[in-house]
Parts: sequence; C-alpha cells; structure tokens
Amino acid sequence: MALERTLAILKPDCIEKNLQGEVLSRLQKAGFKVLSMKQVRLTKETAAAFYAVHKARPFYGALVEYMTSGPCIPVALEKENAVADFRALIGATDPKEAAEGTIRKLFAENKERNIVHGSDSPENGRIEVTFFFSESELVS
Ligand code: RTP
Ligand code: MG
Repeated sequence: MALERTLAILKPDCIEKNLQGEVLSRLQKAGFKVLSMKQVRLTKETAAAFYAVHKARPFYGALVEYMTSGPCIPVALEKENAVADFRALIGATDPKEAAEGTIRKLFAENKERNIVHGSDSPENGRIEVTFFFSESELVS
C-alpha cells in the first residue's frame, strides 16, 4: 500500500469542547504521523474556498458559519492508506450513522457539528494539505 497524505481539521466544536488532545491521541495511536499542525481562525473567504465543492448544497452557508465560529486546527497526516483509514477512524458524517468507537460517534453532536474533517480521496488529501501548509512546514 502506498504512503498517502490526508488533511484532518479539528473543527470549532472540537476546540470548544477541549477535545484536541483526545482526538490527536486517537489518531496517533491509530498510526498516523503528524507532519504539521497549526491553530487558525478561518475567514469566511477561506472556509468558503475550502468547502467550495459544496457550494450548491443547502447546508453550505451554515457550514461556512460553523467553520468560522471559532478556531480550527488543520493537521497534515501521513500513513499508508491514510485517506480511507482516517475516514474509518472518524466515522460517518452524521454521528447517528457512525460506527461504534469512531470519533464522531463518541464526540459529535450532529451531522453538522461533527468534530473533525477528513479528506475524501488521495488526490484531495494532497490538495487539502497544500491548502493549509507549505512544503517547509511539512516535516517528513
Ligand atoms: P468533511 O468533509 O468535513 O470531512 O465531512 P464529510 O466528508 O463526512 O461530509 P461532507 O458531505 O463533505 O460535508 C462537509 C461538512 O458539511 C457539514 N454538513 N452539514 N446539515 C447537513 O446536512 C450537513 N451535511 C454536511 C458537516 O460539517 C460535514 O462534515
Ligand atoms: Mg467531505
């Protein structure tokens, strides 16, 4: 299996609930290597650009509001099969549908306030890591 990069974002509800350490601990125990991370307050423009793929969806405006409601922590991760393995670790978008033991099942309130983002393909993993981090910030 190939080494892949994926982008996690600890979302504003994760930080409000002081779950940063809990989520980082779980992803490290699952074998993900942290290449870089930083805490940022997204502007409306940055959040809208990051989630531009969802522009036409009814939840887009609320999603941008939520992602700008407090600080976020983008985390660049590396592992074999990172994209699929990270999505398995976090669980389905809606915590009601997420498997037992997944981060969203354990900690998320609802389908929108769902604690953490994970890239959805290896290609998007590379693109999204680059969205937040320059090569010099990625320690390999
Ligand atoms: P993410 O991109 O954040 O990892 O989440 P995902 O792939 O599991 O879900 P996606 O369909 O890409 O949706 C992006 C984020 O938009 C919010 N959302 N709200 N109210 C709703 O019906 C709804 N649907 C999605 C969530 O914060 C979701 O993670
Ligand atoms: Mg997604």
